Amino acid sequence: MIVRGGRRLSGQVTVSGAKNSALKLMAAALLAPGVSVLHNVPAIQDVSTMREVLEHLGARVDFADGTMTIDTVDVTSQVAPYELVQRMRASIQIMGPLVARFGQARVAMPGGCNLGPRKIDIHLRGLAAMGGTVRSGHGFVEVTADKLRAIDMFLDYPSVGATENLLMAAVLAEGTTTLENAAREPEIVDLCKFLVSMGAEIEGAGSSTLRITGVNEMHTAEHTVLGDRIEAGTYLIAGAVTGGEVEVTGISPHVLDLFLSKLRSIGVQVHENTRSVKIWGDPTSYVGVDVATLPYPGFATDLQAQMMVLLSLAQGVSVVTENVFENRFGFVDELARLGADIRVNGNHAVITGGRALSGAIVRCPDLRAGAALAIAGLAAEGCTELRDVYHIDRGYERFEEKLRALGADVERSVAGEVSCPAT
Ligand code: EPZ
Repeated sequence: MIVRGGRRLSGQVTVSGAKNSALKLMAAALLAPGVSVLHNVPAIQDVSTMREVLEHLGARVDFADGTMTIDTVDVTSQVAPYELVQRMRASIQIMGPLVARFGQARVAMPGGCNLGPRKIDIHLRGLAAMGGTVRSGHGFVEVTADKLRAIDMFLDYPSVGATENLLMAAVLAEGTTTLENAAREPEIVDLCKFLVSMGAEIEGAGSSTLRITGVNEMHTAEHTVLGDRIEAGTYLIAGAVTGGEVEVTGISPHVLDLFLSKLRSIGVQVHENTRSVKIWGDPTSYVGVDVATLPYPGFATDLQAQMMVLLSLAQGVSVVTENVFENRFGFVDELARLGADIRVNGNHAVITGGRALSGAIVRCPDLRAGAALAIAGLAAEGCTELRDVYHIDRGYERFEEKLRALGADVERSVAGEVSCPAT
């Protein structure tokens, strides 16, 4: 991707459906035989991969213009192969639904990823407590159960994925399950809404305590995916770093509360509406702030990299603390190539701001870091060439197109036909 900096972004952009909800809603469709329908599904790589997983299990999936139909009548397999799981860790979210409905699931262990070891111990401990027999070997983990039974469980950590897997397992378990210290992300609330529309009985969606009373069977349903808050935050920061004026629509501002209050503390002007957020500001007036990522409603780890770019430009010193993933500063060295002054010490990154960024060749280490490097290119003087941009395609629908609509000079170079001038 070739990004030429120096342009102020302005205009309106509509977020797509949230990747981190859509993938789980697709898995949840496995809980009921028949055809479920999802609207506002983003056309991104991870959705294609999850579609492949469902089709590998025997489901029939159609997807056009944001609407996906999932027919699970002929689901005959309960195995997710390594080739698919290593491409997308979220494949493990099929485990809960498969064990709940079919009594078994065999999923390749998700490899590590660029964010550190991504364990699934909380997922497996919960399924075992519900009566699942957990076996692992040859790179696979298998869970079998005659009938899952309700549990009272205190999650060691409010893991998003573990909460979702155990939630989907509990809806067909015997009795009432209580999950304490559950994740509270808006995508969990979205999943709970879909499950309830399928016939589940769930209390406490969005709180740390979920209470699920198992039912005998689930039925198909229709659901619209909520807007992607991480995509929204990404475009808001793109507007802020370029000193432009950007309005993001298709999102409820309250899911970005802490993020927006941080933008205000930096000196970005923020205006909130019921389904949109508008920002504007002058980068020379921004001041650094400290940011610590935490489970929702704390500052989203998925917006940490993008915020680092903004803090590199703001005056003063900022400390960013990454509390969610063991290794999510991988892109700092790439950002330094563009001129940022960031010193990493453990899970803290000390940013000395007020720097002018200059274009260079950089490599995207993961999805959100890739988006952050593109944002840095928008703010940098000159031309920036991003490599390995397939990471960005995993989670951002029409990324360049949406940026160009805001006035950015950005294009995709497929076979090197476009490049930055040699410096
Ligand atoms: C989800 O990942 C998101 N992915 C991530 O977004 C997001 O960063 C993360 O939640 C936190 O909000 C999807 O929803 C597909 P976790 P997930 O389980 O479920 C540890 C993006 O860019 N942990 O809350 O994997 C784990 O090692 C992606 O869109 C255990 O120790 O997140 C990690 O350090 C990146 N044991 C921490 O919890 C477990 O059993 C957070 O993981 C599970 C998790």
